Amino acid sequence: MGTITYPFRQDLDWKRLAQFEIDNFKNKDKVNIIQFASSDGSEAYTQIISLLESQHAGNIDKFFPILAYDIDEEVTKAAKSGLINLKQKHVDLINKNSNRFSEYFQSSEKILTIENDLNIKASAQDYVKTYKVADKLTNKVIFNQADMYDILFKYRDNSNTILLCRNLLGYFDDKKIKSTLHIISEKLKKDSLFIIGGIDSDISLIELYLECKGFKEVMKHVYKKIR
Ligand SMILES: C[S@@+](CC[C@H](N)C(=O)[O-])C[C@H]1O[C@@H](n2cnc3c(N)ncnc32)[C@H](O)[C@@H]1O
Repeated sequence: MGTITYPFRQDLDWKRLAQFEIDNFKNKDKVNIIQFASSDGSEAYTQIISLLESQHAGNIDKFFPILAYDIDEEVTKAAKSGLINLKQKHVDLINKNSNRFSEYFQSSEKILTIENDLNIKASAQDYVKTYKVADKLTNKVIFNQADMYDILFKYRDNSNTILLCRNLLGYFDDKKIKSTLHIISEKLKKDSLFIIGGIDSDISLIELYLECKGFKEVMKHVYKKIR
């Protein structure tokens, strides 16, 4: 599977998602963003930037810190380092979604090496550069190495959860997909959100399955628990 990821992955409308999250939880004092398969932190930073830059955001502190988990030791170490590797096309993608790139990312003298990083190996000629991530992003997320199932089994939702589990289920076999979706549907209460990725939406009948489990698709790849 690998840990490949990048900021503002185009399988989600991040801006619209942030606005939806703000509206959906406008009556909640605290919202828990739980991120499984958090990889090198790209996705957490994307979510934070999107919330920070939302219009009419109100109190967005209630969304932080994001609790981000990945089973892979190397990639979690990289996320915790406060550094990130970006190719020029990733820089362009961030610039397309935010005009404050330099507020969030600064060129670093240090080089971030991640063992088995497919992003680097995929095309060595496509130059990867290491950036320091600004404190305003890193202090809004806590990265931990953990198996998502250990976290999920213990989790208690109070109808105030945003659970991102993106581009992971799609790599599992049918039995594991169904049992994972079953646990998630048992854990998440009405109004909480479950967010998947483009690779996961290739799973046959996933929408129908999630509907049967009490979820409604509120935007592409975003499901709200409605009962
Ligand atoms: C393809 S990446 C997806 C990264 C990111 N969510 C995205 O959509 O760009 C899949 C990640 O899932 C992690 N992973 C695999 N099994 C896991 C598990 N049981 N618990 C937590 N993370 C897991 C891998 O280490 C890898 O970093």
